[in-house]
Amino acid sequence: MDGNGRWAQRRGLKRTEGHAAGEEALVDTAYGALSMGIEVLTVYAFSTENWRRPVDEVRFLMNFNESLLKRRQHELHADGVRIVFSGRRDRRVPRRVLANMEEAEALTARNKVMTLNMAFNYGGRAEIVDAVRRLVDEGVPASKIDERSIRSRLYHPEIPDPDLVIRPSGEHRISNFLLWEMAYSELVFTDVLWPDFRREHLFEAVEEFQQRERRFGGLDK
Ligand code: FPP
Repeated sequence: MDGNGRWAQRRGLKRTEGHAAGEEALVDTAYGALSMGIEVLTVYAFSTENWRRPVDEVRFLMNFNESLLKRRQHELHADGVRIVFSGRRDRRVPRRVLANMEEAEALTARNKVMTLNMAFNYGGRAEIVDAVRRLVDEGVPASKIDERSIRSRLYHPEIPDPDLVIRPSGEHRISNFLLWEMAYSELVFTDVLWPDFRREHLFEAVEEFQQRERRFGGLDK
């Protein structure tokens, strides 16, 4: 969900007001995904690198995560959305925020219509490191380490690899998102800044995805 800061700056607003404006984009995109039968929507809400931002902005994003959940979880729950979080639940995340995340996960755990996966305190490299640490902790011998054993120790192994990854805000980078999972994802880049992103932009990206030919390393049929 990139471009919030620039969106705010162009309007003479504070960066945090850009994040706040991103909420509408998130909710509209989630309902757009739901309306088209998408089973999993993963959004990058806070990266392991975002701790480097000014203290006030980090504090805002922590509190915002909590207040957004409090305000939206019941409506999402009523519509059959399962909310999960991917990322490190380390001591940098305030205990209150963690408790809130766990509450939303527990409330929505049995929902089946769509999974909204919030990548929060998430880094793609950190996720791979954490999976390898688990293998070592479990005493798995080197000869038994393969793609399947790593894959099954990612934060949410039940979630399939994404078919489509959309990067807004005109940047052409992966920025440490879903490194393992996006090995064969189709990438769509758009100049739209996140606060302006709406379901129509998602639909356009899906249309572009539908034109792509996926070979997964094989040859044309
Ligand atoms: C990147 O924009 C955006 C973020 C670091 C946070 C995205 C979060 C939301 C849209 C709201 C939902 C948030 C939570 C915590 C649930 P940027 O600040 O890098 O924008 P810039 O590239 O224009 O500076």
